[in-house]
Amino acid sequence: MEEQQYQLLDGKAVSAQMKKEMAEEVAQIKAAGGKIPHLAAILVGHDGGSETYVASKVKTCNEIGFKSTLIRYEDDVTEEELLRKVDELNNDADVDGFIVQLPLPKHISEQKIIEAIDYRKDVDGFHPINVGRMSIGLPCFVSATPAGILELLKRYEIPTRGKHCVVLGRSNIVGKPMATLMMQKSYPGDCTVTVCHSRSENLKEMCLSADIIIVALGVPEFLKADMVKKGAVIVDVGTTRMPSSVTKSGFKLTGDVKFDEVAPKCSYITPVPGGVGPMTIISLMRNTLLAGKKAIYK
Ligand code: GUN
Repeated sequence: MEEQQYQLLDGKAVSAQMKKEMAEEVAQIKAAGGKIPHLAAILVGHDGGSETYVASKVKTCNEIGFKSTLIRYEDDVTEEELLRKVDELNNDADVDGFIVQLPLPKHISEQKIIEAIDYRKDVDGFHPINVGRMSIGLPCFVSATPAGILELLKRYEIPTRGKHCVVLGRSNIVGKPMATLMMQKSYPGDCTVTVCHSRSENLKEMCLSADIIIVALGVPEFLKADMVKKGAVIVDVGTTRMPSSVTKSGFKLTGDVKFDEVAPKCSYITPVPGGVGPMTIISLMRNTLLAGKKAIYK
């Protein structure tokens, strides 16, 4: 079979560029005596993935020049205690935005915590007000992974109008908002969107007719070459931590796409790591900057 030259959608490079742009803006705000954007993050327990993500968020805040506060609790924190902290952050005028890292322990209702967050400080974009506003195209905080993917498609000038976009996965954090955004009347957007999930019967046929596939299933190497049309654009949201004896950390991040066999069929594809991951973090930073500037809500 004839192979085509594919191009990487380099999230690491794009996010580095965005970081530079934001650091310059923060320096200007500082010089003009304005308010330094302040992000707070609540981390419960010691889940390896969550620890890594939150550490990376705090580090990126510092690199851009934001103020950041990390609030930690053990696994046995009560829902009441967490709700009290959320209320405190809602009322802290210095905190522009905050996140509660998910997942939370089973005895705490994630939905209850999310709904307790003031939507004007909900830089994760998980509150129903932000989700609802996004779905009808109003200004809002858009959750970081879908926002990061849109930015990546935009900076690589990927054509989307009228294209068939298949979203694999229907999570509240990625699949659902991604599908909403890809069908919105704008660029990137204007796609015909199909959402497939674990119960879909014709998933392979759908994928084979897709111009753009966004895979967010959390199933390592799920998307194979025989599911992909020649010249398709592939976005891999998967980040499963697989045990590895060769890396220092003892694990290797594995995407939802069987990269080696899928890449030669593509026009563009995101690597894992270095694709969607860095774009997610930088999009949270952009939401923090918007919160600091009161650009979306007064
Ligand atoms: N867990 C996995 N992704 C995310 C995210 O974007 N935000 C939060 N708060 N938790 C997560």
